[in-house]
Amino acid sequence: MSPLHVTRTLPEDATDAALRADVRHGLTSSPKSLPPKWFYDARGSELFDEITGLPEYYPTRAEREILAGRAGEIAAASGARTLVELGSGSSEKTRYLLDALTGLKAYVPVDVSESALTRAGEALVADRPDLDVHALIADFTAPLALPETPGPRLVAFLGGTIGNLLPAERAAFLSAVRTLLAPGDGLLLGTDLVKDEAVLVRAYDDAAGVTAAFNKNVLAVIDRELGADFDPGAFDHVARWDADREWIEMRLRSRTAQTVKIPALDLAVHFAAGEELRTEVSAKFRRDGVTGELAAAGMELTHWWTDKAGRFALSLSVAR
Ligand code: SAH
Ligand code: AVI
Repeated sequence: MSPLHVTRTLPEDATDAALRADVRHGLTSSPKSLPPKWFYDARGSELFDEITGLPEYYPTRAEREILAGRAGEIAAASGARTLVELGSGSSEKTRYLLDALTGLKAYVPVDVSESALTRAGEALVADRPDLDVHALIADFTAPLALPETPGPRLVAFLGGTIGNLLPAERAAFLSAVRTLLAPGDGLLLGTDLVKDEAVLVRAYDDAAGVTAAFNKNVLAVIDRELGADFDPGAFDHVARWDADREWIEMRLRSRTAQTVKIPALDLAVHFAAGEELRTEVSAKFRRDGVTGELAAAGMELTHWWTDKAGRFALSLSVAR
């Protein structure tokens, strides 16, 4: 069996410093907000995996349907010998690509969640001893140093995670992805599509309360890492559709007036009763918008596939 190579591109204290900076900035801003990447400690990654199986959360099933039907076409169009996957998580849906890409030599999953990455990587090297698996613990919004592996390269960014970036972050991210590609290399991008508000809100406010637990997990991360005294029970989970910006916002609403201490930052944060903290946006897309954003970053959309119900799209683009 070939070994799993795991590389941490950021030292642990850089992650710590980034968390401190994000928490200080986000909780002293008005309105308050936090970046969604801090959901994903080991518990957050488990909760996300649970979300993907919920009856209300359609994106994972819709994207799996597309991959199951189109992996052969994707493989033929890209001819990739290296697959890089950003925000790979469990790599569960990626199996369709790994099976279809017959000339594949290397798989490079990239994720901030060390637990998700090592679990997925270990399972994969056991099943696919022919493949070099180089797992990178890294923030995909920062410059990435990829291992030397054979081209052509296909970068996959699945699950609709691009929607968790704000528009300006998205533009910077796509330009950075373009620098990872040689002309002719590909980007496979999963995007959730604009649809009926009730369907969207249900997907982010499920009856079993798993998404609420996922949302509140960011408070547990701050408590553990920064010694804060957030009581997750003192906040309500909120999922709201913003029709102008075409995104779902997840928020945590303070049930009462309260002050939270964050000793590692020497900070006390006051919440008014009913005040909301934004923890995530999840943008929903239309084909024209995706095509335009890719073109602005130097990529040309060549294929667009949706699930039968038209809820989710997978696009393949080529670097020019
Ligand atoms: N691609 C998988 C997982 C999606 S969940 C799927 O489609 O099911 C989003 C994943 O992105 C999580 O595994 C999370 O840890 C990772 N992630 C979120 N923000 C990140 C960032 N800034 N850098 C690297 N990984 C990130
Ligand atoms: C990872 N990302 C695409 C998920 C989403 O749907 O925006 C995260 C998530 N948030 C709540 N449920 C799932």
